[in-house]
Amino acid sequence: MYIVQIASECAPVIKAGGLGDVVYGLSRELENRGNTVELILPKYDCMRYDHIWGLHDAYRDLWVPWYDGEVHCSVYCGWVHGRVCFFIEPHSQDNFFNRGCYYGCDDDTLRFAFFSKAALEFLLKSNKRPDVIHCHDWQTGLVPVLLYEIYQYHGMSNQRVCYTIHNFKHQGITGKEILTATGLHRSEYYFQYHVLRDNFNPFALNLMKGAIVYANYVTTVSPHHAWEAHHGTFGYGLGHTLHLHQSKFKGVLNGIDCDFWNPEVDRYTPHHFTAKDLEGKAKNKQALRERLLLREGDKPLLAFIGRLDDQKGVHLVHHAIYHALQRGAQFVLLGSATERSINEHFWHEKQFLNDNPDVHLEIGFNEELSHLIYAGADMIVVPSNFEPCGLTQMIGLKYGTVPIVRGVGGLVNTVFDYDYDTDHLPEQRNGFVFYQSDYSALESAMNRAIDLWYNAPDAFQRLQLQGMDYDYSWHYPAKDYLEIYEMIRHK
Ligand code: ADP
Ligand code: GLC
Repeated sequence: MYIVQIASECAPVIKAGGLGDVVYGLSRELENRGNTVELILPKYDCMRYDHIWGLHDAYRDLWVPWYDGEVHCSVYCGWVHGRVCFFIEPHSQDNFFNRGCYYGCDDDTLRFAFFSKAALEFLLKSNKRPDVIHCHDWQTGLVPVLLYEIYQYHGMSNQRVCYTIHNFKHQGITGKEILTATGLHRSEYYFQYHVLRDNFNPFALNLMKGAIVYANYVTTVSPHHAWEAHHGTFGYGLGHTLHLHQSKFKGVLNGIDCDFWNPEVDRYTPHHFTAKDLEGKAKNKQALRERLLLREGDKPLLAFIGRLDDQKGVHLVHHAIYHALQRGAQFVLLGSATERSINEHFWHEKQFLNDNPDVHLEIGFNEELSHLIYAGADMIVVPSNFEPCGLTQMIGLKYGTVPIVRGVGGLVNTVFDYDYDTDHLPEQRNGFVFYQSDYSALESAMNRAIDLWYNAPDAFQRLQLQGMDYDYSWHYPAKDYLEIYEMIRHK
């Protein structure tokens, strides 16, 4: 099958979070199964060019219809760790992707509406006719809309779209000018509730909603989150829309790329290890302590890796640091915040805790350090408010780092409580789960984990090994996606 993925991220060249990992990992597994996969991405000025091999002009003069005129673009092609990627660069005065950041500009919806339009225009003009276009999150929400309203009348009527929602919190709420800009001229039509009009704001369009309405199939990134979004509040206003389209909606649990995230060969860790021999893990703990100037000692080391964002339960992350210290454990945090107040809060904490040899806060994005933390820590804390899937607990499991998670979204589908999970036999359990989003619930899960580490090291190690045994690779999810692709292809 010929599959084109259109997305705003692809790890490691463009990665703000898990979306990048998923786009890369899924593409790779689909290719390993004999499919042809190509990716279309924006050509950001700030992406990691050192991860692209052989970048060259692939299509010099792509003219993209935009408002009443056209925008001149160049399309570059290069290989990102073996994946064929096309990067779109607009030569407009707006410099849509030369902003020194991936997201966070006032005109984000316009920038990514342009990208969606340009990606389809590129497929059209370069005569690429994939069987399936797989696009992701609000940034590419207009792809299915534009395909069915415009491009199918220009020779792209056989293309089918699978749309994956990684985060319902960000939906691409925007004004009507997007319609004029992208050539969707019947604005009264699109501005109806059963099409693109936002369910909350009667004056706005919702790009994610448009994608749910128009795509041939819609997924989110875990079965439990699919349920939460449809029946609970985590659809952030799109629950009713999902209900109307429920026959083409389901949750497919993400995988992780088990070559990139593999303690046996990890290129960023000084010591390698397997479930048969955890000595390398102990050495990585020592290396992590040396690197972050933490003191030696017979203490468990807990970690948090992630965006410092309301979604991740920052108040609980903050509390976890102090509770770990109070329990005589060590804590390492690696995170970055886009919101100024959260950023300032953690910088302030960092200064406050600066002289404490049992804690280190690393504020910023650091891929290499993240690997050493996964490899060296004993436990990873994921106290999210909501979590569509979550990758850090799955990576933690692969590295023998026991997850302590809040039971929401994909965390429910991947972490099974050591003491209380009645759906799994004791030998199938792999972590600690708490449910209430409050300090005492977090503390009690942390206490159970820390007590086990201190009082029953053999049992703790068995739990680590049970976690390492789980197969959260792309093997099964890629099969699910191929089934979806096959189904929509023949409709
Ligand atoms: P989300 O996509 O919501 O941010 P996920 O758990 O799905 O959360 O994925 C996060 C990914 O980003 C993981 O690969 C994690 O290791 C990585 N990551 C998050 N924050 C950082 C950081 N500050 N430095 C390095 N890697 C990070
Ligand atoms: C999102 C979600 C996260 C998920 C990731 C990859 O950013 O917040 O839970 O794992 O996308 O799908």
